[in-house]
Amino acid sequence: MQDRYGHRISYLRVSITDRCNERCTYCMPQELQEWLPREGILTFEETLRLIRIAADLGVSKVRITGGEPLTRRDVINFIGRIPEISGIKSIGLSTNGTLLAREITPGETMAAALRDAGVNSVNISLDTLDRETYSQITGRDFHEQVLSGIDVAIAAGFGQIKLNTVLMRGRNEDQLIPLIEFAGARDLILRFIEMMPVSTTDVLDEDNFMSILEAKRTIESFYGSLMPETGFRTNGPATYYQLPGRKQRIGFIGAMTNLHFCESCNKLRLTCDGKLRPCLGSYLEFDIMRPLRAGASDAELRQFFLDVVDRKPREHDFRNSYQPNRKMIAIGG
Ligand code: GTP
Ligand code: 5AD
Ligand code: SF4
Repeated sequence: MQDRYGHRISYLRVSITDRCNERCTYCMPQELQEWLPREGILTFEETLRLIRIAADLGVSKVRITGGEPLTRRDVINFIGRIPEISGIKSIGLSTNGTLLAREITPGETMAAALRDAGVNSVNISLDTLDRETYSQITGRDFHEQVLSGIDVAIAAGFGQIKLNTVLMRGRNEDQLIPLIEFAGARDLILRFIEMMPVSTTDVLDEDNFMSILEAKRTIESFYGSLMPETGFRTNGPATYYQLPGRKQRIGFIGAMTNLHFCESCNKLRLTCDGKLRPCLGSYLEFDIMRPLRAGASDAELRQFFLDVVDRKPREHDFRNSYQPNRKMIAIGG
């Protein structure tokens, strides 16, 4: 699948729930949430069929997101069926980490079950090492669970574990070095992410936005010049650097300030309520649940995917007074 701007689509992000057990300020509105009703959510069978269709069209990487994907019942059985789909080479999961250490059967943690189900890469959110600040950001006191979730995930032996830190001035700007040290001690890749306006409109403003350029400056004033690792990429849009004098890699996701951010975009998004979104930062979304439930053939669904890819924008609209029509929590990042 290729769009009119030359983006080749190989990566499908699949959100399996709009629910979450945390309340991060930058991701979901603080008002009472109305969750989607169950019949409005794609069943796992339906989701697997759509992944199969996408794989027929050249998608080789899938990332499971939410909400918090691990809050959905039977998630392990669902993920365990993805490796059967011919063409899928990599399965990622993005999680807040709170449930990774939970025992789902005696002696077996969620993290180990995910690895056995076929997940290769786990991205875990960690914005701060300070418990109090963590509670302020997430609205929940789950810092300890996340830290043990990280340890349990390391012990489970995934191919790759990354930590995601959303940059927030006044909240975690003092945490950049401690987080780098934390990741380095565990041999994990840490990525700093610019906050995007994808929650209620007032979460991102000039006072709390922190650019990756500024984060880089802080980091370089402590460690010395970062060395770009142009040859290293993961499936997503991050760019990576090596810390001088050590074998540690850190990444930056600068969707707001990097003007070339979208040039190498390779993805489509499927929301849990059955919408295909060609871009995180665009209003466009197309309801594939309707034809799916109306009995569309595989050929018709393939054509639906191709039509959506054909509508993929050149780049996101975040810099042009984008007003979200859907909260981050219901897209999955
Ligand atoms: P890998 O590189 O495969 O590990 O995945 P990833 O970085 O795409 O996944 P993750 O779920 O960890 O996302 C990290 C951050 O990057 C989140 O804030 C996402 O919203 C953001 N992100 C990922 N892909 C895109 C994209 O295409 N556009 C924009 N604007 N943001 C993205
Ligand atoms: N801007 C940037 N990243 C965000 N995430 C959630 N909301 C936002 C936002 N508004 C990140 C989470 C998680 C990833 C899937 O998306 O921190 O790591
Ligand atoms: Fe792709 Fe849109 Fe993300 Fe840009 S913002 S990288 S076009 S999904």
